[in-house]
Amino acid sequence: MKTALVTGGGAGIGRAACMRLARDGMAVAVLGRRIGNAREVADAIAAQGGRAIAVAADVADEVQVSAALARIRSALGPVAVLVNNAGIEEFTPFAGIDDAAWDRVMDVNLKAVYRLTQNVLPDMEKAGWGRIVNVTALGAQIGAANMVHYTASKGGITAMTRSLAVELGRKGITVNAISPGFILTPMAQRAIDGDLFPVPYQDIVATYPVPRVGRPEEAAAAIAYFASEDAGYVTGQVLGVNGGCCP
Ligand SMILES: NC(=O)c1ccc[n+]([C@@H]2O[C@H](COP(=O)([O-])OP(=O)(O)OC[C@H]3O[C@@H](n4cnc5c(N)ncnc54)[C@H](OP(=O)(O)O)[C@@H]3O)[C@@H](O)[C@H]2O)c1
Repeated sequence: MKTALVTGGGAGIGRAACMRLARDGMAVAVLGRRIGNAREVADAIAAQGGRAIAVAADVADEVQVSAALARIRSALGPVAVLVNNAGIEEFTPFAGIDDAAWDRVMDVNLKAVYRLTQNVLPDMEKAGWGRIVNVTALGAQIGAANMVHYTASKGGITAMTRSLAVELGRKGITVNAISPGFILTPMAQRAIDGDLFPVPYQDIVATYPVPRVGRPEEAAAAIAYFASEDAGYVTGQVLGVNGGCCP
């Protein structure tokens, strides 16, 4: 049984990815800051006959990440699949972004991806097999107002995905990303409730070829494909899960 580590696994896309990877036969480490949410997901997997543990860690904290990895390896063995899903979004007009906000967003969304991937890599190199699946965002492709730090961090993930794919392909490790458009998750709900989109979201998604919001399970299905044995000849790709809104 392969072990998958999903960051931000306690809610939204990460939760759906944990459930899906467990259904696909993997042992799952559900990592998030709020242990209650991660436990709920691990329990739901166990209730379906799967194997999972909940691990509390802030991906931006190096010490917490190393402790979490030690726990995961001792409970579930080496990590074969890493889903770098944890992310935060903040809405601030560009002129109002200060160093603290820039660093906060970059540390969670981009630096943590570098650090976690580097920490997990020895497991994959030793096995000669690995799957790294990152989560970027539509906003990094087409731009999004009032979240330049967020979209810059996601653009960094796209670049990392492509470069790591080139570096790791010979080692049996693939690196891909999904790029969600508008997926209805707690993150999206917070933006809706806070009236943070410049245009009502219903007006945005109404223009898409598939004119609705996406479901977390639809993003998870794309993650599961990249994590699968079948995707061994697919690397360095960024798959939009966005209702066909852009190429
Ligand atoms: N929803 C969308 O439409 C959409 C669109 C484009 C891209 N995305 C990307 O998709 C990913 C998942 O988004 P989502 O909508 O599912 O978000 P969400 O509903 O807010 O869930 C994010 C999860 O990440 C965890 N998390 C946040 N910061 C963390 C940290 N520092 N360390 C560890 N865990 C952390 C949260 O749990 P804790 O707070 O307990 O840690 C939560 O479980 C993000 O990278 C996001 O940028 C989403």
